[in-house]
Amino acid sequence: MHNLLYIDGEWTGEALEKLLVHNPATGELISEVPKGGKKEAVAAIEAADDAFKIWSKTTAFERAKLLKRFYELMIENETELAELMTSEMGKPLSEARGEVHYAANYIEWYAEEAKRVYGETIPTHDSNKRLQLWKKPVGVVAAITPWNFPAAMLTRKMGPALAAGCTIVIKPSSETPLTAIKLVQLAEEAGFPKGVINIVIGSSSEIGEALLLDSRVRKVTFTGSTEVGKILMKQGSETIKKLSLELGGHAPIIVLDDADINRAVAGTIASKFRNSGQTCVCGNRIYVQSKIYNKFIDLLTERVRELKVGNGMAEGVNIGPLINKAGVEKVSTHVSDALEKGAQLVYGGKQPSEKGNYYLPTIIKDATNDMLMMNEETFGPVAPIQKFETIDEVVHLANDTPFGLAAYVFTESISNGTRIIEEIDFGIVGWNDGAPSAVQAPFGGLKESGLGREGGHQGMDEFLEMQYVSIGI
Ligand code: SIN
Repeated sequence: MHNLLYIDGEWTGEALEKLLVHNPATGELISEVPKGGKKEAVAAIEAADDAFKIWSKTTAFERAKLLKRFYELMIENETELAELMTSEMGKPLSEARGEVHYAANYIEWYAEEAKRVYGETIPTHDSNKRLQLWKKPVGVVAAITPWNFPAAMLTRKMGPALAAGCTIVIKPSSETPLTAIKLVQLAEEAGFPKGVINIVIGSSSEIGEALLLDSRVRKVTFTGSTEVGKILMKQGSETIKKLSLELGGHAPIIVLDDADINRAVAGTIASKFRNSGQTCVCGNRIYVQSKIYNKFIDLLTERVRELKVGNGMAEGVNIGPLINKAGVEKVSTHVSDALEKGAQLVYGGKQPSEKGNYYLPTIIKDATNDMLMMNEETFGPVAPIQKFETIDEVVHLANDTPFGLAAYVFTESISNGTRIIEEIDFGIVGWNDGAPSAVQAPFGGLKESGLGREGGHQGMDEFLEMQYVSIGI
């Protein structure tokens, strides 16, 4: 495997200063990759801009063929990709394997969607004119991706961008560059022409600024924090870039008295503890109605006790390490804050004895609105539970946040479920479902959780421009 930058069809950057990649489970140094900056970002933009002139003229069928081959190579390389992901990110190997398939499916889905980008004919107001809507690739795309899903967050940008006829400059997280490099290598093997896909790794602020301020980059697609999203939005305004921002969340899980309690507990575990609580759609605050409050906590605790914490490479592990020490510190601060403010610890609440960035799955009851974890993303395996009495009360609690990415509702009542979902402001809702993400469905948030959608046919529009053509005949 090349652990290098890839610009204009060349693996490059040997002479640059190195960025160190560590295994979060052991602290061990696993690789060194070149630390690029402005110069490399500009070279990548130049390459992508040149390649766009040719790539944008290829047919959707040609692009679909290459994307299909890329998908197949990902599946053939499942084990290597999954092991790489676990070693640089920490997630359990079974979850990493699942992510390889999830990621590959974005490529396959958009290989198919490439052939379904239809324009429109518009009824004319003048018999001497014909009106049409043409769709065109937006141009050079900058894709800035996070560490929590090193493969899937990249392919859900690459898939639609390449299918639409755009070229791309990728800037993956410095915590997890290896999976991204491997994916680019597989794309090269699939046969994408030089300059169509480029990857630059290094300083986020320097590379980010170069990508955001360059007028040749017409679209920026980013997954990460709301804080960084706001900076990108300001920088992108200089050249009025098209933006897709998948930002922070603070998902409520609402469990009504009439829920199927086993389904609610299983859904809560799926949402809360996936990726050790490090996803933007993880339930962050759990509201349980008063009649089943104690029963829900007892059952959740019984199931959470069964979760095994450890190195993601080990058999049977459910909760891997957090990405770094700062992640562990944030979780500890949230837990101490909640306990100081009167919440009760039911389970966990500390790091296990094992060395590494581990934190025990944790259940906290009697949480209240003033606690940090009820307002900020914890990004760790902590489940705070608050009691509520009425639907009006829980709707107010759920909406009382600047975020609006995902929410979960557990109820067997069609009228209660419908009423709550209509009233809560979240872009994604799992109704009796703790894992709603799917490549064919639009993923994205409201309010400060972002702009635009990824996945589904809606995800393709983010990489297309509309051109209205009025033809005099
Ligand atoms: C994310 O955490 O940003 C993505 C999670 C998903 O795709 O389900």
